[in-house]
Amino acid sequence: MRALLILLVIDILSLALSSPNDAYPAGYGDELGSCSCVEDGAVLRPVRREVHDNGRIFDITHKFTPSSPVGGNTEGIGEFLSLSMSMKNGSDYNFSLMKLPVHAGTHVDAPGHMYEHYFDAGFDVDSLDLEVLNGPALLVDVPRDKNITADVMKFLNIPKGVKRVLFRTLNTDRGLMYKKEFDSSYVGFMKDGAKWLVENTNIKLVGIDYLSVAADDDLISSHLVFLEGREIILVEGLKLDDIQAGIYTVHCLPLRLVGAEGSPIRCILIK
Ligand SMILES: *[C@@H]1O[C@H](CO)[C@@H](O)[C@H](O)[C@H]1NC(C)=O
Ligand SMILES: *[C@@H]1O[C@H](CO)[C@@H](O)[C@H](O)[C@H]1NC(C)=O
Ligand SMILES: *[C@@H]1O[C@H](CO)[C@@H](O)[C@H](O)[C@H]1NC(C)=O
Repeated sequence: MRALLILLVIDILSLALSSPNDAYPAGYGDELGSCSCVEDGAVLRPVRREVHDNGRIFDITHKFTPSSPVGGNTEGIGEFLSLSMSMKNGSDYNFSLMKLPVHAGTHVDAPGHMYEHYFDAGFDVDSLDLEVLNGPALLVDVPRDKNITADVMKFLNIPKGVKRVLFRTLNTDRGLMYKKEFDSSYVGFMKDGAKWLVENTNIKLVGIDYLSVAADDDLISSHLVFLEGREIILVEGLKLDDIQAGIYTVHCLPLRLVGAEGSPIRCILIK
């Protein structure tokens, strides 16, 4: 009887101490969020941000628009959204379909991109290691008058412990990702630069500010050097404008497209 009473008291106590119920732990949700929209006179419109949370979170992903550039094309990706059902046509909802080159915009390359046997064996974007794609990262400025050669890599002198590097180049200054015409004179890795990185650093995430990490002259050979070991992940088409070089936490998440050797990827930097 007494034991039962004690149990009852404990039960009532724990009920009083815990969050409203046991469906989730307490301690989150006390602050109220704000509306991410603007009432502009009578017009309601969303706020689009490049920087979030008072300068703490940088969106380093480019927007997809019909004039987003894609390799070898002068007109951009074109209309990539189409409404298969639309409210204007009497449907209860709008419902869009998307058709997108997987190597356009801010995207990731999987080993199957340049190695047939890796492609066949299933080394697709779904097989990429999220640990590599998320963690401390260095944003570095590449000398603007050069492609990324072994000499440039030596000059950058990146510490051995660094695992993730985003290379900002002349591509950013030239605003190449904002031009719909593909421009093959972009800056990227020359084969010897890629080889130097693989042999002399521990870098596993290589990010760059145009559609390819490899300079056009060494397009295939540089990719082959990077992707051969299946450890290095290439993130391309990053938006690195107006961010100070330095140390951040990067978060990049590709879509789980089974069978795809590339995927759009959302990347952010956190200060
Ligand atoms: C809406 O209906 C019109 C006429 O049937 C058709 O031409 C058009 O493609 C439809 N559009 C969409 C978005 O469904
Ligand atoms: C999509 O839905 C909105 C209503 O939410 C409607 O105003 C708009 O016309 C629709 N677009 C099309 C193409 O049907
Ligand atoms: C980088 O290499 C490309 C060819 O792949 C060339 O067109 C471009 O001028 C080079 N850029 C610099 C800054 O040297």
